[in-house]
Amino acid sequence: MRKVFARDQVALDRIVLTVCRGERVALIGPSGAGKTTLFRLLNCTLRPTSGKLWIDDEDVESLNGKDLRRTRSRIGSVYQQHNLVPRLRVIHNVLAGQLGRWATLQSLLSLFKPADVEIARQALQQVGMPEKLLERTDELSGGQQQRVAIARVLVQNPDVILADEPVSSVDPSLASTIVRLLIEISQNRHKTLIVSLHSVDLALAYFPRVIGIKEGRVSFDLETSKITEGMLEDLYSGNFRDHSMTEAISERVQSVAYPSVG
Ligand SMILES: Nc1ncnc2c1ncn2[C@@H]1O[C@H](COP(=O)(O)OP(=O)(O)O)[C@@H](O)[C@H]1O
Ligand SMILES: [Mg+2]
Repeated sequence: MRKVFARDQVALDRIVLTVCRGERVALIGPSGAGKTTLFRLLNCTLRPTSGKLWIDDEDVESLNGKDLRRTRSRIGSVYQQHNLVPRLRVIHNVLAGQLGRWATLQSLLSLFKPADVEIARQALQQVGMPEKLLERTDELSGGQQQRVAIARVLVQNPDVILADEPVSSVDPSLASTIVRLLIEISQNRHKTLIVSLHSVDLALAYFPRVIGIKEGRVSFDLETSKITEGMLEDLYSGNFRDHSMTEAISERVQSVAYPSVG
C-alpha cells in the first residue's frame, strides 16, 4: 500500500505485509515514520492512495457501507489517548464497545440492562479492576483509563486488536503490565494483535515478530530473535538508545515472568 496526503506528503510507500490470524506483532520506528497512518489503513478509517488491503479474503476497497461497518467492527482499536468520554462513568465507556455509536450510547445513558452490567463487570474483571464500574472515568489514573479502553475492546470482541502507542501516556512502571494484558487477551481469546510501541524494549520482550517502520517504509520485518542492535540503530538513525527506556526499566522488563505470556 501507499498513502499520500495532501501536498504530496508521502506517509507510507511500498508497504507489503501479511499478518496471520492470531499473530502478535509489534511496530516500532521513529516519530513520523507512518505507524499511525498504517493503523488507520488497517482499521479501514483511511483508504490507501494505491495498493490493496485484504482482510481475510475480502478486498476492503470493494466493501460498501454495511459490509464496511461489519468489517470495521471486527477490528478493535486502542489509542494512546484512550478516546474515552471523561465525564461518563466507567460502565458507559466500557459498553460503548457494544453499542459502537455515541449517539445511541448517549441516548441510553443510565438505562443499561442487568445483562449489560454483567458484561461490563466481566470485562473490567479481565483488566483487573472490577470495582471501578461506577466510577467517573476522569477520576481514574492514566493507566486505569487505558484499562477501561481495553475493557471496551473486550466488550466489542473483535477478531483483531490494533493498539497505537497504548502505553505512551502511561506511567512507565505500568507500561509492561498493560502490554502483558494485551498479549494475554490475544492469547486467551485468539485475537490477532498489532501494537505500535515507542519502547523498543517492550517490543522485543513481548512480541515474537517486530516490524520496523522508517520514513514510510518497512525497514525490517523479522522474528524478534533475528533483530540486531545495528538494525535498531539504523531504524532510529543512530539514536536508538534515546528512544528506549532507561536501563532500570529495561532490566525490570527483562526480568518479568516471561512464561505466562509466552
Ligand atoms: N492527516 C494527515 N495529513 C497530512 N499529513 C499527515 C496526516 N497524518 C499523518 N501525516 C504525515 O504522515 C507522516 C506519518 O505520520 P504518522 O503516521 O502519524 O507517523 P507515526 O505514527 O509513526 O508517528 C508524517 O510525516 C505526518 O506528518
Ligand atoms: Mg503515531
